[in-house]
Amino acid sequence: MNVAIVTGASSGLGWEYAKQLAPRREVDEVWLVARRRDRLEELAGKLIGAEGRIFAMDLTDAEQTRELFETLEREQPNVAWLVNNAGFGAIGPFEDIDVDTHLTMIDLNVRALTELTQRALPYCVPGSRIVQVASSAGFAPLGNFAVYAATKAYVLNFANALAAELAPKNITVTAVCPGPVDTEFSSVAHLDGDDKAPEFIYAKPGDVVRKSIADARKGKLNSVYGATMKAWSALSGLVPRRLSAWTTSLYRG
Ligand SMILES: NC(=O)c1ccc[n+]([C@@H]2O[C@H](COP(=O)([O-])OP(=O)(O)OC[C@H]3O[C@@H](n4cnc5c(N)ncnc54)[C@H](OP(=O)(O)O)[C@@H]3O)[C@@H](O)[C@H]2O)c1
Repeated sequence: MNVAIVTGASSGLGWEYAKQLAPRREVDEVWLVARRRDRLEELAGKLIGAEGRIFAMDLTDAEQTRELFETLEREQPNVAWLVNNAGFGAIGPFEDIDVDTHLTMIDLNVRALTELTQRALPYCVPGSRIVQVASSAGFAPLGNFAVYAATKAYVLNFANALAAELAPKNITVTAVCPGPVDTEFSSVAHLDGDDKAPEFIYAKPGDVVRKSIADARKGKLNSVYGATMKAWSALSGLVPRRLSAWTTSLYRG
C-alpha cells in the first residue's frame, strides 16, 4: 500500500495537500494528522481517488503520536509522500510571549517534524517525496517573530541537508517557503487578536500547494511561491542580519 502522510491536514495548506495528493496514482491512502477530528472526518469525506485515514492527535504529545508510529511499523506501507506541514507561529516581542507557547512551537515545528521524518524514512522508497513546510520567515532573523523564524530556519537547513543525504536513494526532500498565505495561521499567530493584514498580501493555499507539489516532483530543493517571496529568497542573504532583525522588530502586527 502506498500512502501520503500529511500533518496539519485539518486546515490551510495541509487540507490542500491532502486534497491535491489524493488523486495521484501513487497514493492509495492519505493519512490525515491533526488535533481536530471533526475537520479530518470532513476532509476524509471529500477526498477523491484515495481513502483518508484519520490520526487525530497532538503531535507534541508522545503518548498520542505513538499510534501513528506503531501503525507505520505494523503496516509497513510505502510512504510515497511525507508532508510535514503542521506548525504555528506567535507574533510579538519575545519577552511578551509566554515560555510555554515558545516551547510548544519548537516542539511542533522542529521536534515533531524531525521525529516523523526519521520514523517514516525506513518506509520511503526510491521515488518518495518528502515535503518539509518551512517559511520565507526562515531566510533571515525576524524581530517580533524571533522563535518562529528560528524554527523555520531549522526546517529549511534540515531539509536542504537531508536532500543531499537522500539523493543517492532517489528520495527527494523539498523545503516549502511560503510568504503570507490565506489560512488560519494569522489568527493563531496574532495572540492579541488583531489578525489580518490587507487581503492582497495573501497567496491562496491551493496555489502554493500546487506549485510545491510540482516542485517536489521535479526534485527541487526549495519551493518559493510568488515574485515577492522569490525576490526575498534571493536578497535575504545579502541583507545584513542586524538590519533584517531590526526593521522587523519595528513591526507590531
Ligand atoms: N499561512 C502562512 O502565512 C504561512 C506562511 C509560511 C509558512 N507557513 C507554514 O505552513 C504550515 C501550515 O500552516 P497553515 O498556514 O496552513 O496554518 P493553519 O491553517 O493554522 O494550519 C496549521 C495546521 O497545523 C495543525 N496543528 C497545529 N498544532 C498542532 C499540534 N500540536 N498537533 C497536530 N497538528 C497541529 C492544525 O490542526 P489542529 O489545530 O486541528 O491540530 C492545522 O491543521 C505551518 O508549518 C506554517 O508555519 C504558513
